[in-house]
Amino acid sequence: MKFHIETWGCQMNDHDGEKLSGLLSAEGFEAVDATEDADLVLLNTCSIREKAVHKVYSELGRLREEKQRRPLLVGVTGCLAQQEQAALFKRAPHIDFVLGTMALRQLPRLVAEARAGKACVMDTGEYPDNHLFPPSVARRRDTAKALVTITEGCNHACTYCIVPTTRGAERHRPFVDVVAEVRGLVERGYREVELLGQNVNSYAGGCTFAELLERVSEVEGLEWIRFTTSHPMNFTKELARVLATNPKVAPFLHLPLQSGSDRILRRMLREYTVADYLERLGYLGEARARICLSTDFIVGFPGETEEDFEGTMKVLDEAAFDASFSFIYSPRPGTPSLRLKDDLPMAQKSERLARLQKRQTELTLASNLRFLGREIPVRIETHGPTEQGWWLARSGEWKTVHLAAGPGRELPFGELVKARITQASPHFLGAELA
Ligand code: SAH
Ligand code: SF4
Ligand code: F3S
Repeated sequence: MKFHIETWGCQMNDHDGEKLSGLLSAEGFEAVDATEDADLVLLNTCSIREKAVHKVYSELGRLREEKQRRPLLVGVTGCLAQQEQAALFKRAPHIDFVLGTMALRQLPRLVAEARAGKACVMDTGEYPDNHLFPPSVARRRDTAKALVTITEGCNHACTYCIVPTTRGAERHRPFVDVVAEVRGLVERGYREVELLGQNVNSYAGGCTFAELLERVSEVEGLEWIRFTTSHPMNFTKELARVLATNPKVAPFLHLPLQSGSDRILRRMLREYTVADYLERLGYLGEARARICLSTDFIVGFPGETEEDFEGTMKVLDEAAFDASFSFIYSPRPGTPSLRLKDDLPMAQKSERLARLQKRQTELTLASNLRFLGREIPVRIETHGPTEQGWWLARSGEWKTVHLAAGPGRELPFGELVKARITQASPHFLGAELA
């Protein structure tokens, strides 16, 4: 059996893809890079916005045609699988099995049943111990940074969000397990890890999230720790202090704001005001100047007035985000925000999104220009130079760096090198070896 996994969505889903890949490899299946070469295709899906769901259905359509030409097993996993469950078989009868986000370990059984000819095989059960997935099973992609789950699920209840439905309530891995996994990864050559959860800073696996960062940072040989995602209400002074002072914690923070209007934040049930958010940023003190900050925005939330949106534009400047990810509100099935009147024309939502993104591009350029002339450590993230002759690297601040090494020079994948920044654009930094 040859298999191929297509993954959409966040880092958590990405890492689930690595876990699924490990389960199939343990069965003796062989991973292949292209759908065309596979006997089994897994669509590891995301349903955060309608667009993500469209991509899945369009790929399912393509696979239906492929299935008419040759034998092929198609399985759907990830958030759309958990959300739609048996309804997926109605919509796309050529799906052989559906596996929910909490039932990952059932994959070999489902594949076996589907191979034996059973139709509509499904497990979307809530396995309360799925966060204890054995870490050695994951088959990681060839990346310089290793993903490490610390928390599954989310206990917040943002009115627009499908994640509490698709991922369930919070479950935390014991810190000893997390530290042991990181130690093992470093032994295998990784120098950087990213701690993952829908809400990492509500971590409660025997210590606080700030303490977990300190414990993980004690792993010898580890160079950088990243984490995603944080909720502003769980961003403590203790966490700010660790971020500001622990040299192994990369100088980067992703802290989703969503809106700069208190009225909209209330309707979103985000549990904070703009002032609360800015107060928490203030916990970083002087370190804010060297820590890069990114955020998420939802534009055109039901009832968003021009004044509400102006509030968002104002905070954008006030917080001077180094980067942001912004999306037009997308109604999700079963979420409370569906009940809110949503009568703003799409053209107006798009116009606001464009305005926000234009201003963000300017802010990101300003952030990047501050790096000009500096010498900073960057990690090599490709195995060779691109066609243009530079290597792709990443700084601690999460800046993409195009690094020129000089003709014929080989740079070691996954290692830190010193780069002198010579060029700044809104999307990347240009650099030479220092
Ligand atoms: N757990 C993370 C967010 C996960 S989803 C957190 O709370 O920060 C990533 C981002 O997608 C969110 O921050 C939000 O900006 C966006 N998003 C989530 N649901 C959305 C929806 N229904 N429409 C548009 N954007 C959405
Ligand atoms: Fe969704 Fe809110 Fe939980 Fe983030 S904190 S996953 S936006 S419910
Ligand atoms: Fe998407 Fe699920 Fe992640 S909805 S963003 S894959 S948690």
